[in-house]
Amino acid sequence: MNTAPHRAGARPAGSTPGGRTLRTDRWWLPPLLTALGLATFVVYATVRSFMREGYWDAENHYLTPFYSPCLSDSCVAGSSHFGTPIGELPGFIPLAFLSLPFLLGFRLTCYYYRKAYYRSFWFAPPACAVTEPHDRYTGETRLPLILQNAHRYFFYAAFVITLINTYDAILAFDGERGLGFGLGNVILLVNVVLLWGYTLSCHSCRHVTGGRLKHFSRNPVRYRIWTWVSRMNVRHMQFAWVTLASLVITDLYVWLVSTGTIPDLRFVN
Ligand code: FES
Repeated sequence: MNTAPHRAGARPAGSTPGGRTLRTDRWWLPPLLTALGLATFVVYATVRSFMREGYWDAENHYLTPFYSPCLSDSCVAGSSHFGTPIGELPGFIPLAFLSLPFLLGFRLTCYYYRKAYYRSFWFAPPACAVTEPHDRYTGETRLPLILQNAHRYFFYAAFVITLINTYDAILAFDGERGLGFGLGNVILLVNVVLLWGYTLSCHSCRHVTGGRLKHFSRNPVRYRIWTWVSRMNVRHMQFAWVTLASLVITDLYVWLVSTGTIPDLRFVN
């Protein structure tokens, strides 16, 4: 994916001066849909992260990923799978304040999302053969965009958080009535599988598994893992979108079940 610096204001082939273009197709539709999709998720996730209700279903032990890990005395009883080493938190701090900044950083610095929001929000450029409105663009070689290079560190943090989400999903099979599973378990499980797909298909994961090697033949295990990760990497954009949807669906389901709005559909116990 090309996120390399380019010269802004340069007029691409097919465009005309003044930010116009000779393109007659609906080139504006993909960036518009991208902007709407990302904005919808950001608004939903922000509202839910600050709500402090409907995040833990005590009967079925469902915990929404937006509140995991819940480490504060402010968390409702049972939702803290790793204890409460942190005291009460004021209402303006999300209960998952430890994981949310890293998850936000992971997505913001993601190679795919960079392309997506550079195009849809900054119009840099909005589409092929369409002049971008900026006079200058210094690329990712200086502040603030040089911070995008921190992506690999966000990857390490996201890996740990996905492990925690997986642990939450496994614990949910042991609810108040003992072992069993319902639709909520299926949703939590599918969500973590997709989150693993997004996390492991990351470009930084490719580098971690196969980077800096001079001879793959001398590192057959890393080569095999790198090959597997590379195959997933081709689908990274799809994982990026589908995990936004799965996170919202998972959170919404836990919210509705935990507030008694809908019953959990139980399959076993
Ligand atoms: Fe998208 Fe790393 S490149 S998460």
